[in-house]
Parts: sequence; structure tokens; C-alpha cells
Amino acid sequence: MTDKKAHLSIDGIDKTIELPIYASTIGPDVIDVTSITKHGFFTFDPGFMSTASCESKITFIDGDEGVLLHRGYPIEQLAVSSDYLETCYLLLNGELPTPAQKEEFTAEVKKHSTVDASVANLVKTFKRESHPMAILCSAVAALAAIYNDEIDITNAESRKITAYRLIGQIPTLSAMVYKHSKGEEFIAPDDNLDYAANFLNMTFGKAGQAPNVSQTIAKAMDRIFILHADHEQNASTSTVRLSGSSGTNPFAAIAAGISTLWGPAHGGANEAVLNMLEEIGSVENIESCVARAKDKTSGFRLMGFGHRVYKNFDPRAKVMKQTCDEVLAELGLENEPLLAIAKRLEQIALEDEYFISKKLYPNVDFYSGIIMKAVGIPTEMFTVIFALGRTVGWYSHWNEMVSGPYKIGRPRQQYTGSPKRDYPTK
Ligand code: ACO
Repeated sequence: MTDKKAHLSIDGIDKTIELPIYASTIGPDVIDVTSITKHGFFTFDPGFMSTASCESKITFIDGDEGVLLHRGYPIEQLAVSSDYLETCYLLLNGELPTPAQKEEFTAEVKKHSTVDASVANLVKTFKRESHPMAILCSAVAALAAIYNDEIDITNAESRKITAYRLIGQIPTLSAMVYKHSKGEEFIAPDDNLDYAANFLNMTFGKAGQAPNVSQTIAKAMDRIFILHADHEQNASTSTVRLSGSSGTNPFAAIAAGISTLWGPAHGGANEAVLNMLEEIGSVENIESCVARAKDKTSGFRLMGFGHRVYKNFDPRAKVMKQTCDEVLAELGLENEPLLAIAKRLEQIALEDEYFISKKLYPNVDFYSGIIMKAVGIPTEMFTVIFALGRTVGWYSHWNEMVSGPYKIGRPRQQYTGSPKRDYPTK
């Protein structure tokens, strides 16, 4: 809090309205507009471009400078020096774990990684060609049915077990969704494997065979998880907060976040990137694709380019690009046709005046899509991997909200419909 105030004068109101300003640690301070309703006004901010919906200590983003901090630590440092479960602990608890805390946390996550048979059976009831995000969303919502009676959202210990269950079971569920689409037997979690390697084994391993996971690919997957772990108050996280603000079951709130993430303007972009590259088909078609993206009447956008918040570069994209180069080199795929199209598109867009002037750079989804394609993950599973990594972020925000005082989220509107009128008499 500060003593700073903003003063708002409105035509027709004699006195100036005084609005308190609260200081942020870094980034813009916020003007508290809650008293405006008393004067007969709402603030109007479609898309929440200028609205801080909550106070949070988890993640900081400076879109102009390309900064992303989790609990103060830069994402580039976490991606290179940390691992996913350590980053999860950091997001959940605010500090990096000691070795003993890390060991305990890892053990708890592993202990809670087995999915109840009823949910495994539910996954099997879907048509094999169903979109994996639809199945994942239903499976996570089904966890609410299993754990509803024992969850007390006002109890910190109960919330902690919910975190273990979510972080433990989301890779198992994601792998089940994949295995089901292939008509293959589910593989049980293996406690001897690290988090990312275990996910890869449950996804690509064969029942009855010993795990055989490449360390480079497991490391790349772990990095993909870290780079997707949290991203402040984006659409899916805001959905989880809004949904959770009614006091609903946290698994149900996370299922709402998964639905939001699915859209092509959000997490579905990595899938859309690969679909676009396949549609382009060959390097010769890139010029016409770029021309179409620049033509507003076409309704077409270059998928994997641009970001609502990052207007200079996406710091996650920098690290992801490096990982992408490493994975392609390890797998000897530098010259694979689809990836050659991606590289050329990236180059053209980075040099084209339209994209430069609008500050449209490749985002994290552009590179993560290419990596996942190289690793052999089917396109429609891409957003599932994003959801897997983001689960800890959603949970951390929900937990932060319900740990303190909060109100049910209830935005207002500018009504522009018909004024009151009477139903016609017969
Ligand atoms: N291709 C072509 N033109 C674009 C693109 C694009 N990918 N993105 C934005 N533009 C243009 C718009 O047409 C608009 O032009 P105008 O100023 O002449 O009207 C201008 O750039 C600004 O676009 P907005 O939609 O206002 O930007 P906003 O910040 O709201 O959108 C978004 C950000 C949704 C990410 C957008 O850039 C987009 O659709 N990108 C493609 C989808 C994508 O990659 N999404 C992933 C986001 S990252 C994530 O979820 C992890």
C-alpha cells in the first residue's frame, strides 16, 4: 500500500473521486477502482487489457522487456538449472526446496501418481478419435467425483494432498489419453523414473517391456514442462480462479482451466502451428501463406506468432528455440521437410516489416510444437502436454486465492440492449 492517490473527474459530478494506488514490488502499481460503483459507474475493460484481477506473489511478467519470473527467479535460469518438480515446489511454496524437502516432495508426487480404476475405465469409454483435450478435461473433472468428500478447501493440509494428487496424476492421465487413442494397454507409473521420463515411458513404452527413454528427450520434455508451468493471470488461470472463487471442487476448477487452454488463441496454438505447417506443405508456399496472414480480410493468422503480453520477445521462446535445436540435432532431423518449413517461416516473419512493426515474434508454442513433432508426439496431444505442465500453475493460483480472503468473481457489463418494455397485450 502507498499514500499515492489517483483523482478522477467525471462530467456531471462536482467533486473529484479519489482512488487509492497500491504499490507492486515490480511492474505497474494498481489503481483501486472498487469505489466507482458508488458513483454510478463501472469501469470498462473488455479483454482485461488494463485490469489487475487479483493480488499475487507467484509470477511476474514484463511483456515489453521479455521478463518472466517465478517467485522472483528468471525463467531462463530455472529452465537451465532447475527441473520441473523443483519448479513446482517453488511455485507452490514460494521458495526453492532444500534437498530434504525436494526428496519428500518428489516422493509424495510419486506416491499419488496412480489413477483410480474408475477414471481409467472412463477414459476407455471415449471414442478413440475423440480429441485428447476433451478426454483429459473429463478425466480431471472425474477426479472431483473421487475426491469430493474428503477435500476441505479451508484446510492447508487437505489442499497440499490435492496438489500431490494433481501433479502426480496429470502425467498418468495424459499418457492414458494417448494410449487410448492408439488402442494400446495403459502403462503404470514407474517410481524409478524421473517425472518427465516416467511420462514418456507411460506414453511410448510397451506393456511388459523395460523402460527405454532417451535422456536428451526426457530433458527436453522436462524443459517444456518448466516453460509452461505458470504464466500469471492468462485466460486459463483466470478461469481457474474465477471458477474456484465459487468454492467449487479444485479438480472441477482445473477442468475448467483445461477447457479454456484448449482454444487456438491460447494453448491450442502449438497444435495449430503444426496443422499450419502441414497445410503449407512446402517451402515454396511460404510466401503466399505470409501474404495471407498480412491480409486482414483473410481471417488467417500465423500460428505461433504474437503474444498478448510479450511485445518484444517471449523469454520462454528463446530457451525453447535452443532446446529445439538440440533435440533436432540429437534426432538427426534438421532437414526434415516440415521442420525446414518452420525454420524458413521463422526467418521470413522475423525479417518482414508487417511482423516487425506489430511486434509479432515466434512464441513458445512455435518451438514447443516443433520439438513435440520431432519427438513423435501426435499433434492433437500437444495441448495436453501444455496442460500437464500448467497444472501446477493453475493449482498454485487457486491455492493462493483460497488461502486468503476472497470474493466470488462477478464482473459487470455495459448493457446496450433494449430499454425496459412491456410484453405486448393480446
Ligand atoms: N499473424 C498475423 N497477424 C497477427 C497475428 C498473427 N499471428 N497476431 C496478431 N496479428 C495482428 C492483428 O491482426 C492486429 O493487427 P492490427 O493492429 O492491424 O489490427 C495486431 O497484430 C494486433 O493483434 P491483436 O489480436 O490485437 O493482439 P492480441 O495481443 O490481442 O493477440 C494473440 C495475441 C491472440 C496471441 C495473437 O497474436 C494471435 O492470434 N496469435 C496466433 C495464435 C497464437 O500463437 N497463440 C499463442 C499465444 S501464446 C500462449 O498461449 C502460450
